[in-house]
Amino acid sequence: MTNEDKQVVCELDRILGLIKTNSADIPADEKRRMVEETLVNFDEYVSPGWLKYRKSVSDDSEEGAVLEWEDEGAYCYGLNGEEFIDCLGGFGIYTCGHRNPEIMDAVRAQLEHQALHSQELLDPLRGYLAHAMAEITPGDLQMCFFTNGGAEAVEMALKLARIATGGRWYISMVNGFHGKSMGAISVGGKNTYRVPYTPMVQQIQHVEFGDAGAVRSAIANLVAVGEKVAAVILEPIQGEAGVIVPPKGYLSEVRRICDEYGVALIFDEIQCGMGRTGTMWRCEDEGVTPDIMCFGKAFGGGILPITGIICTPRMWVPELVDNPWLLGSPTFGGNPLCCAAAIATIRYMLANDIPGMCKSKGAFLKRGLMDLKEAYPDIIDDVRGEGLMLSVEFVDHETGYAVARGLFSRRVMTAGTLVNAKTIRFEPPAIISQQDMEAVLVRMGEALEEVRATRA
Ligand SMILES: Cc1ncc(COP(=O)(O)O)c(C=O)c1O
Repeated sequence: MTNEDKQVVCELDRILGLIKTNSADIPADEKRRMVEETLVNFDEYVSPGWLKYRKSVSDDSEEGAVLEWEDEGAYCYGLNGEEFIDCLGGFGIYTCGHRNPEIMDAVRAQLEHQALHSQELLDPLRGYLAHAMAEITPGDLQMCFFTNGGAEAVEMALKLARIATGGRWYISMVNGFHGKSMGAISVGGKNTYRVPYTPMVQQIQHVEFGDAGAVRSAIANLVAVGEKVAAVILEPIQGEAGVIVPPKGYLSEVRRICDEYGVALIFDEIQCGMGRTGTMWRCEDEGVTPDIMCFGKAFGGGILPITGIICTPRMWVPELVDNPWLLGSPTFGGNPLCCAAAIATIRYMLANDIPGMCKSKGAFLKRGLMDLKEAYPDIIDDVRGEGLMLSVEFVDHETGYAVARGLFSRRVMTAGTLVNAKTIRFEPPAIISQQDMEAVLVRMGEALEEVRATRA
């Protein structure tokens, strides 16, 4: 080993030592060192801008930076034991809670005999998981393809729609969000994330979300000039846009339009699926089945990253039967460890009626937030959402940020929509207790009172 390598090994030994040490046993000076080093590391090796957006490190933070180190149930814990009620829920990852013991057990057991797959032999968990997905998704959704991240799943959905329909155009939604890979951000509807990369995938028309007539016109106009549309892609409830619920009947009307024109309908249920809005899939609320559905976030049980798409057999066209890897062949997609996590997640969700929990707890939380809106009409403009996918819209970004900070200092974690805090989201784990929901509402009231006082 060179001297430089020896130094790296020595440093990594120290970090591995920290990983293996109970946080209570890490000495205070070592914890301070970790905070200092993390700030430097983020600034110098991750991105200097990163820290600016973290409430946990902003200049006026009373206790300085909070390093996250442990999590359990509905809580995230800082290195010094700071306990946060997690109302951000990793933007929908933690529906089954943090480090759910049943899901952890399955992952541990799988890890004891195999982590990743050979890439040649048949990996049975992929098949079992795909079968389970066909059973818990609506209509005739059946064929699964597993990926590692949400954007990657969306890429697969976009490609599948082209090969299956022969169409080339996509209709997507203004303010929609599907991830940040080239295809996903091309169908995305937020200018900030597109402008630096234009021109993007070209054959896309963005229309207003919630307006089925706009979808019809876009398709009809393209068809009239000799173009062929591959797919309409939308989130049944827009998440990053600030939890926008479309009018009742919208999804079924878009389904009718797609059927009329032979266009594939893609629902991106990455955030709103897996029980979050009170039904296993949001589209079930209207009894609508898409041709392709993307899933992710909570799918790995808050333990491991796994995402994917499921489609009707019609979409899995002969070219894909001949060469199943024509669509994609991600090295890690559908690996046994992640499949074990997803299998345990589905089991846990069904056995414990997680969608039902999201529905009833969401109704309570939403009512409480609506009451706060009544009490603070000068601060809160709107409360929206279904199940435990809720949002509060404030009169402006600064006010939203001040309330989110107020909540953070009272140990409630929430988040704005990407870098905007005009709307903050509440997506706590379904297993959040009644007591914690009440605590969240009390602390939110205090934060609102504080913001009102500073404005006066
Ligand atoms: C609806 C939706 N689709 C896709 C994505 C992208 O997922 P990922 O960040 O895992 O790429 C997100 C992430 O927030 C999302 O909310």
